[in-house]
Amino acid sequence: MIYLGIESSCDETAAALIEVVAGIPKILGHRVHSQNHTASGGVIPQVAAREHLLHLPKVMESLFKEAGIQPQDLGGIGVTAGPGLIGGLLVGVMWAKGLALSLSKPLWPVHHLEAHALMVRMEVPVAFPYLLLLLSGGHCMLTLVHDVQRYELLGQTRDDAAGECLDKVARALGGPYPGGVYIEERARHGNPQAVNLPIPFEHAAHCDFSFSGLKTACLQWIQKHPNLTDSEDFCASFQKVIADSLSERVAHALRQTSLLRCVLSGGVAANAYFRQRLQETCAKYGAKLYAPPPAYCTDNGLMIAWTTYELHRKGIAPCTDFQVRPQWPLPH
Ligand code: KG4
Ligand code: ZN
Repeated sequence: MIYLGIESSCDETAAALIEVVAGIPKILGHRVHSQNHTASGGVIPQVAAREHLLHLPKVMESLFKEAGIQPQDLGGIGVTAGPGLIGGLLVGVMWAKGLALSLSKPLWPVHHLEAHALMVRMEVPVAFPYLLLLLSGGHCMLTLVHDVQRYELLGQTRDDAAGECLDKVARALGGPYPGGVYIEERARHGNPQAVNLPIPFEHAAHCDFSFSGLKTACLQWIQKHPNLTDSEDFCASFQKVIADSLSERVAHALRQTSLLRCVLSGGVAANAYFRQRLQETCAKYGAKLYAPPPAYCTDNGLMIAWTTYELHRKGIAPCTDFQVRPQWPLPH
């Protein structure tokens, strides 16, 4: 059966087609158009929505051409219905509803964070339950994944997400948006011990995060060093402190749950240094770290197509009568 996934909740206009035979997925096509928000320093919702409107038709056309199939061949359609920016969500959802109604195909509203949570299973069949560290641009949470649509929140950020912190500090350094990639590149040859920065919630016995204090400390450090010509040491130190904090929280969650499977996902999970550090932390507890391939950590259509398959497999009924949900907690 062939599934189409459409994603437009933030600044990626993405769609993908997968064919699943006996639980084994095959990628038929995969298209991502990333908007460029470097000039504005971040995503402006109205601008992003207009860009989705402009690019979704082109993305869809080239996707079906690449896959060599017709819309009539689809078995099911999934679209991100939230959480995210309302304008972008409306563009994707209206397109998906139009397609589903005109072709009489089943449609599933997909939860964007659930798609990040389940994406790893497209490549490796990680069994439920597992611990999930979800790090996207706006979310930073530790969750127990019991099953499809069954999540138990262990902790989340009390202020900024790690991705947001990376983006804002990169911007202060004059880097492009999104900032995570920039920080990772600059950090590669830097000394992580060079700059002393505070580790958020160091030694705390809970699963919550906080990154606004670290962000402020970084912004102050950058202000005090206006003639900075080489930020490699600073970026390496900054990246290390984020990894220290993530590792401590994951260690706490592993101790608390005794789980031996941990999944890292969301755009920030594309970072090789974080993957390495968290893998080491998991190994200390005899646990294994899983993460989607880096290219599938940031927003894409494959995660929506795969989650559509997971919802269908689980027996969740399709529907065309749903609203977009800019705010949408994970189901439990
Ligand atoms: O999941 P995502 O693509 O979009 C949302 O759902 O928010 O995550 C975007 C976030 C941004 O904060 C971006 O800076 C971060 O992922 N990111 C990275 C890397 N690539 C993207 N952070 C660290 N290292 C990377 N290589
Ligand atoms: Zn995302």
